[in-house]
Amino acid sequence: MIQPVINAADFLMPHPEHIQNGCGMFDLRKNYHFTVDPFFTELVPLIGQLLSVNQHGEDLFFGKAKGQMAEEAYTLEISESQIVALASSVPGLHHAIETLRQLNLATEGRIPCCSISDKPTYRWRGFMLDCSRHFFSVKEIKKLIDVAAMHHLNVFHWHLTDDQGWRFPVRGYELLETVASKRCDIRYPDYKVSYGGFYTREDIHDVVAFAHERQMTVVPEVDSPGHVSALLAAYPELGCSGGPYQVRDQWGVFPEVLCVGNEASFAFMQAVIYSLCELFPDPYIHIGGDECPSVAWENCPRCQAKAKELGIVPSVLQGWYTMKIVKMVKDAGKVPLGWDELLDFHDGFPLPEGLVILSWRGTSAIAKAIGCGHQVIACPNTEGYYLDYKQADDPEEPGNLGVSTICQETDFRPWTENMGPDAQKLILGGQANLWTEMVCFGRHAEYQMYPRLAVIAEQLWQRQGYHSIVGRLPLEYRKLERLDVACCRSPM
Ligand code: ACM
Ligand code: ZN
Repeated sequence: MIQPVINAADFLMPHPEHIQNGCGMFDLRKNYHFTVDPFFTELVPLIGQLLSVNQHGEDLFFGKAKGQMAEEAYTLEISESQIVALASSVPGLHHAIETLRQLNLATEGRIPCCSISDKPTYRWRGFMLDCSRHFFSVKEIKKLIDVAAMHHLNVFHWHLTDDQGWRFPVRGYELLETVASKRCDIRYPDYKVSYGGFYTREDIHDVVAFAHERQMTVVPEVDSPGHVSALLAAYPELGCSGGPYQVRDQWGVFPEVLCVGNEASFAFMQAVIYSLCELFPDPYIHIGGDECPSVAWENCPRCQAKAKELGIVPSVLQGWYTMKIVKMVKDAGKVPLGWDELLDFHDGFPLPEGLVILSWRGTSAIAKAIGCGHQVIACPNTEGYYLDYKQADDPEEPGNLGVSTICQETDFRPWTENMGPDAQKLILGGQANLWTEMVCFGRHAEYQMYPRLAVIAEQLWQRQGYHSIVGRLPLEYRKLERLDVACCRSPM
């Protein structure tokens, strides 16, 4: 009997770079065994867990490629009798495993025979979760990391501090846990219910280890000099007026900011950076820098004196502050990242060398950052990369501030021909951001993310068109359902 050829790419998101369909299937429902080249030993537990197979057999073979493959590249040969996955690097082989996992989930173990040769376009493929506006448990975060990794994303940007809560320990500043991590829960205004959460050192080690097992880099963000109301509620002496301040229980941009005329603020930031280095082994620290009003500095004698000493007006003190914080981060051996507002100060102060810009306010900052020779990560709120926005322009749809559609996501490219080849090297990639003012629960976070995060993952991996993606969405829903991940099913 002639078997119909199944289009294996239908089961995958991102779509692989090259895929050739074969005939028949490898029936992963049977009790199979696998072998791994010793170079990839660290992936053994994940293979067993994600594919439900046991060691000590060659039904599935995970090996080292003969020649050198690109950093995250892999190949998969799936025949009726064997699966062979090859790569030169651990991240590459991990992608092969996640592709097999997708095929397994979408087909219930009847994996179609095919040959795949695959690699990403961009090396930074991330997602950000705001854990300040609302707190998400370690369990919820791990689930989000796991599903993101299945879509070949490789960066978790952990937004740990903001006006509404400080969420991690800094040595010598214990009030961050007892005061800055708690706020009034505005859902119950009459009862003055307290809302909060704090990640212990053990929690953070747990998340980092889980992410690393899935080859995902963890980037902590401590936002300053704006968005620090929670910090100032605990340590009012670090604000310009001395307080009192409150951990904010409303949303917005607030006038209270870090007093940059006070040396104690820099001692605090140094302690923050030491604590981040202790807790987060990956190379990056995100220093925030967005939405910082200067009114408090303009009215503060210490900030006025500092501005006078520097020969500038207080409103541009952020440029000077950024230089100092970037130096601390670099002296600690880390790569600094910051939001695109930091580009606004580079007329007064040169943008510190090595600062990577996250371009969120539309796309203009991409070209601006490149123009100053800086690496850039695209996360434009105008192009579908803000996952707190509604998935559809519909009053019934949950979401905040705007609309981010799949259509916008598939239209956008971080790099276009008119930017030139040098620009291409400076664009590291992109990431989607989930701010959580209106997202209280892990399940709702999943709904805001999917399927849009899978679409963004594809744009950063191997870009396909809108129609290709939409055709594959029903099978994407099936995979998400099998993982018990909530998702929006009418996101057009
Ligand atoms: C931002 O959305 N304030 C970075
Ligand atoms: Zn001040």
